[in-house]
Amino acid sequence: MISSEIMSDPLAGALPIFETNYAGAAVWDAEYRSENTIPSSRRRAPAKALVSLGEVLQFSGKRVLDIGCGNGRNANYLASMGCHVVGIDFSEEGLKLAGMDSATNVEYFKHDFLNGVPFEDGAFDLILDSYAICHVVDIKKLSSLKRECYRLLKANGLLLKIHLDDRDLYYRQRAIREDDFGYVSFDSVNSIQKRHFSLDSYLKFMSDLFQAYCSRQIIFSDNVRGDIYERSVFACAIKKVDLND
Ligand SMILES: C[S@@+](CC[C@H](N)C(=O)[O-])C[C@H]1O[C@@H](n2cnc3c(N)ncnc32)[C@H](O)[C@@H]1O
Repeated sequence: MISSEIMSDPLAGALPIFETNYAGAAVWDAEYRSENTIPSSRRRAPAKALVSLGEVLQFSGKRVLDIGCGNGRNANYLASMGCHVVGIDFSEEGLKLAGMDSATNVEYFKHDFLNGVPFEDGAFDLILDSYAICHVVDIKKLSSLKRECYRLLKANGLLLKIHLDDRDLYYRQRAIREDDFGYVSFDSVNSIQKRHFSLDSYLKFMSDLFQAYCSRQIIFSDNVRGDIYERSVFACAIKKVDLND
């Protein structure tokens, strides 16, 4: 099911304007419609890192938010594993692809997650961030999103981040800025920026609200437009801490 309507958004406008060069919905619409510069834009199979954590995370029966769900490859997979899934993305073209093979237990909404996510506190057992929040490079906006994810999760809920980390050599060669949290890359092929954390710097950044639960690093060789690179992905699940403890 695809809908551009969602319950009234109490948080709309709460966050400031995007940093310059943030890839907006138009860039992603073009990516899904025709550009396909990112292999996963056309991929229907779920992220390998997600599948590999299935046994540990026990998906069945969980209520999941797939934040920046894109073409729905992960949301549709999680629905097939018995989750109730909400997928949000600001790209209409991505959502059209997502809706093509969605089941009844998955709902898609067009929404910009930088405007907050309009669901009640504790609505989800698991939030999946598969190669999505890495596009937010600004640390203040990332801090707001961290608090929003915390709010949306139930007690003991998990946030699962999958991203190309600071050891990925394709993006390392495209680094434009380095700071205490890792580096920011810019890919001139699609004009998209990304932030690359190390596992340690990510855990440290999230540690006021989340604690480590489990993680997996996947290193592989990849041919990107004719050149071979060592790629590095970390999948890391972190658990919401109880601030009253
Ligand atoms: C690399 S794709 C990953 C898609 C999907 N999670 C996957 O693993 O295949 C990044 C996605 O994040 C979405 N995105 C980026 N910024 C967003 C925002 N502020 N609000 C909603 N979606 C956003 C893009 O539209 C795109 O679909």
